[in-house]
Amino acid sequence: MGASATGSGAGGAGRGARDLFASRLGMLAATLGSAVGLGNIWKVPALTGQHGGASFLLIYVLSTMLVALPLMIVEMIMGRRTRANAYRTFTLLTPRRAWWVTGALSVLAATLILAFYSDVAGWVFAYVPKALSGGVATTDPLVAARIFGELLASPWESLLWQWLVLGFIAAVIMRGASGGIERVTRVLIPLLFLLLVAVCIRSLTLPNAGAGLRFLFMPDFARINGEVVLMAMGLSFFKMSIGFGCMITYGSYFQADTRVPALALRVMVCDLLVSLLAGVAVFPAVFSFGFEPTAGTSLLFLTIPAVFASMPGGQFFTAIFFVLSAVAAIGAMLCLLEIPVAWLLETCKLPRPRATLLVTLGVAALGVPPTLSTGIWASETVFGLTFFDAYDFATSNLLLPVCGLLTSLFAGYAWPERQFVAALTNNGSLPLQGLARLLRLACRTVTPLLIAIILLHGLKVF
Ligand code: ALA
Repeated sequence: MGASATGSGAGGAGRGARDLFASRLGMLAATLGSAVGLGNIWKVPALTGQHGGASFLLIYVLSTMLVALPLMIVEMIMGRRTRANAYRTFTLLTPRRAWWVTGALSVLAATLILAFYSDVAGWVFAYVPKALSGGVATTDPLVAARIFGELLASPWESLLWQWLVLGFIAAVIMRGASGGIERVTRVLIPLLFLLLVAVCIRSLTLPNAGAGLRFLFMPDFARINGEVVLMAMGLSFFKMSIGFGCMITYGSYFQADTRVPALALRVMVCDLLVSLLAGVAVFPAVFSFGFEPTAGTSLLFLTIPAVFASMPGGQFFTAIFFVLSAVAAIGAMLCLLEIPVAWLLETCKLPRPRATLLVTLGVAALGVPPTLSTGIWASETVFGLTFFDAYDFATSNLLLPVCGLLTSLFAGYAWPERQFVAALTNNGSLPLQGLARLLRLACRTVTPLLIAIILLHGLKVF
């Protein structure tokens, strides 16, 4: 999103006077910022804890490398080719109009994700003042759960933090330029990384840390079933920002000479590294202090303060950790909001501020049920899931795999091979013809087949 205007791009349908990322570093920072986010420090530990530890982690890593990475490359080159929003990209690359459905589902997925993601981001923001006042510094599982529970149970506190976060993101997107944020994330993401390393070191030196490492790295293959594989694949899509138009949108701002496969590989490696660090930061502490590994979303909010509580200056470091986590959340949310905003302003020809305002109000309204469902609406369910879990399931385990599957089929069958190869090789200037053909073959065969089997089996269709 945003970035300085630096001229035209790779060329292709829809090419126009569109802002591009100004520098390679800015481009990497923004793309990494959209992938690395709360997913790493909230969702990866939560799902790993709930679904068997190492075996789940292993499938998540494999899915990231074998399914999400190829799709990330495909989404990026599609966006760069069209220089258009996620929805329009599908209609610009082929005359077969029905593909607009994939674009529409991607925009819907991004909007729904933002509705519950901003809820978790709100809790992260709320933990900053709480940490500074010493209000979350405890290693007692019962006290930690009570403190977090009080935040969830207070509807106004959760909603106000969520709206504050959405307002902040909207203010940035409204201006249409993220230069400032790019500069900030460029410094703060490495800082988060360093702080995570520090938490890992502290966590690893806690008594009984070995039990956490065994949980994280010694797979119990008996825990693997269709549902677990679907969850792990959904997580890999969520993490790599695949299946909701993010990489198409960002690809549309890439420079014409960007080596997309190399960039995607770098993003994947960094993203996986942060996820693994988050696991190493959380699980030794879980086993050392006696937290429940299956605690889910609350795991982050219980364990990190506990690790810091046992360190000198812990109050201050807990606050810094949540500030940096908030920055990571902002990077991902900027992309999530930009997707529906870009769609609305380019489709309805609305001015950017009005499109941003409309989408933000819509997301704020959509965000009320998941936010209240962790407190006063906890007993309201849809198909047996709370609103929060239903939004999460509908996106991570349905919409993202479906959009990934359709994108793969689109790239394999609807997008002519010559154009696909030209897009990946920067119009023939990169010696990547072999990779392009292999990738297209995967899009026609293995990738959609794998996603379809995992999806249908995970949903117990067979
Ligand atoms: N990829 C983003 C994250 O994991 C959505 O936070």
